[in-house]
Amino acid sequence: MGADTAWTAASGLVLVLFLVLHLAGVALAPLDPATFEAYAAGLHGAVWLPVAELALLAVGLAHAGFSLRKRIANRRAGNRAQLVSRRGEPLAALAARGQAAGGVVLLGFLAVHLRQLRWPRPAAGGELEALQAVLARPASVVLYVAAALALALHLFHGGEAAHRSLGLLTPANGRSIRAGVRLLAVLVGGGFVAVTLALGLPLLPAPGGVS
Ligand code: HEM
Repeated sequence: MGADTAWTAASGLVLVLFLVLHLAGVALAPLDPATFEAYAAGLHGAVWLPVAELALLAVGLAHAGFSLRKRIANRRAGNRAQLVSRRGEPLAALAARGQAAGGVVLLGFLAVHLRQLRWPRPAAGGELEALQAVLARPASVVLYVAAALALALHLFHGGEAAHRSLGLLTPANGRSIRAGVRLLAVLVGGGFVAVTLALGLPLLPAPGGVS
């Protein structure tokens, strides 16, 4: 296993951990708005937050950089084949083929997402209002749902690939690791879709209605 492959896998697993925590945080917005606001204010006041954000940025850049370098090396070596047989599994084949494209889509989403909600960061007590203002726009709802679906597909293949790259996938545990990773992909992607729809749909202007 090359160093790039191992770093791509390890950084990907850290990003999944962030996404699970992020989903748990934003799920509070529709479920318990007051707790969400208190959680956001507490998080933004934490002294460790800038360090955690820089670390997350470094891990994100490492993930994109190492996978790109591995892809370029593979292409130079003339290796364009899909190494794992996906016969009879069209969704898995789609996820494997779309892995790089999915990463690019997610990077594009992140540029918009961070511009909307991180720069500038809403004032204390205004996090939910800012989120609702973003998701009141139909184009944002479409973008967030599309990003959540792209993320689910990316995790669907990436989770299994990461375990394989780290040498954790064996014939004995392959079936359960694959099932667990796919369940996680559906839960995380589905969770972000659910939060987007729960916050955005009630705010969308009625067709033909006056705004
Ligand atoms: C329902 C979907 C989502 C909602 C409602 C949401 C909401 C938010 C909010 C409110 C913030 C600002 C946090 C702050 O003020 O510190 C944020 C930051 C962020 N989001 Fe999301 N997010 C969603 C989906 C995603 C997805 C799918 C990704 C990754 C693919 C993502 C990655 C990030 C990152 C990296 C940050 C910056 C974290 C930081 O610097 O503190 N988000 N998101």
